[in-house]
Amino acid sequence: PLDHLDSVWLFGYGSLIYKVDFPILERQPASIRGWERRFWQGSHDHRGTPEAPGRVVTLIESPGAICQGMAYRVSPNTFAHLDHREKNGYLRFFTPLTFPEGHHAEGLVYVAGPDNPAFLGPAPMADMAEQIARSHGPSGSNADYVLSLAEALEELGADDRHVYELAERVDELLKN
Ligand code: BEZ
Repeated sequence: PLDHLDSVWLFGYGSLIYKVDFPILERQPASIRGWERRFWQGSHDHRGTPEAPGRVVTLIESPGAICQGMAYRVSPNTFAHLDHREKNGYLRFFTPLTFPEGHHAEGLVYVAGPDNPAFLGPAPMADMAEQIARSHGPSGSNADYVLSLAEALEELGADDRHVYELAERVDELLKN
């Protein structure tokens, strides 16, 4: 259904910000309104295993919130690759993007909702940090995921207490 378009904007708010393993035409920091990042999605295929799932980000609806990320302009063909990489409960839909100069566009975003089987939902920050600190999967350690995401968000100047606090807690646990 995307094939009639020359290119499509993809909004990345998780590993897509720091790990680009697909061809892109252009990239631009961007934000979306009404959504917040949360480490509420279970990962049994990338940053954990079926027996010991890790935690990765999804978006939850939050009226008025701004979620900063990175937008990539890609060929519609790229979604075959991405739909495979982002399996495990994520669905994609179009949402309005805002670019720093105030321009707008529609972009695709992948969100894993509470109704998908891998959804874990909220837990105390200390518990989520411990789960992340001990989880590993085929894509690497769950700790590297949260630390890389926090670093990439800092570079974007993003305001995201949830991610920064988890990264600090995981960093502390790894030192001990
Ligand atoms: C993202 O970075 O936007 C993303 C990465 C993996 C799954 C879903 C979204």
